[in-house]
Amino acid sequence: MGFLFNSDAARGAVFRQIFARELPDLEFYHCSENIDPDKVRYLLTWNVPGDVSRYRSLEVLFSIGAGVDQFKPEIIPDHVKVVRMVEDGIIRMMQEYVVLGVLALHREMLAYREQQSRGVWQALTSSQATERRVGFLGLGMLAQAAIHRLKPFGFPLAAWSRRKVVEGVTCFHGEDQLAGFLMETDILVCLLPLTEQTRGILNARLFSFLPMGARLLHVGRGPQLDQTALIEALDGGRLAGAMLDVTDPEPLPEGHALWSHPKVMITPHIASVTQPHTAALSVIENIRRHRAGKNPIGLVDRTRGY
Ligand code: GLV
Repeated sequence: MGFLFNSDAARGAVFRQIFARELPDLEFYHCSENIDPDKVRYLLTWNVPGDVSRYRSLEVLFSIGAGVDQFKPEIIPDHVKVVRMVEDGIIRMMQEYVVLGVLALHREMLAYREQQSRGVWQALTSSQATERRVGFLGLGMLAQAAIHRLKPFGFPLAAWSRRKVVEGVTCFHGEDQLAGFLMETDILVCLLPLTEQTRGILNARLFSFLPMGARLLHVGRGPQLDQTALIEALDGGRLAGAMLDVTDPEPLPEGHALWSHPKVMITPHIASVTQPHTAALSVIENIRRHRAGKNPIGLVDRTRGY
């Protein structure tokens, strides 16, 4: 029985080496090889292959990324466990990016970049961290890790989620507490998974609850954001700036208004990227757990979609 790595050869080579050392009894296949589909018990992939049902021994399907929204659930057999990537590299990079983004938005970096483009040397007034309320949409593992890194700066921290509670963070739950959460958020960080409930959640109505001059850091998924509503909120002053690591589509078409908007900074979906050394160890740990009859870390609730 074996493990099929269905992604790039470079990361596959790192996985192969670590698997050989840690799980020598498990065959390792790369998708470029000719393999017997009946031998595939574990599959690691970004997209689910259309012919996934031919892997009749498949037990666990691992996403190579933190999200599973790219998977088409209807083609995955019901008995197969679906697992998100939870690994130190992704967590560390997301911590870095969220700290970077929150500080950049807090310290007016987008406005200074715009001033620089005009050759303007002009100090802007800025709040102190203790007065800048940072609110997270989503309180999963990545949001919690980012919050941990932000704590020493002294920002008042809040989060909106279904039901999670984290010490030192003002927690809001459910639809009816969303507006109250937004009214007290100066920098909104979106770290929600993409589901039918969160598609389009960053829309004109949501922005209308934020204080004037609020800022957005979007590290969720592109389809969560109504990009037209974002431009209107920026132009109308509701939002003072936005940093986007995700867009819809990716990349944005040439000439799209967001590319050149003075209050927007875009990065090409690089906030957090699976690192093969640490990811291989996480997947191996999950295979060991699965073999021992335990649930893998990052197991997706298939009815919830994340
Ligand atoms: C990136 O967005 C990922 O899902 O890892």
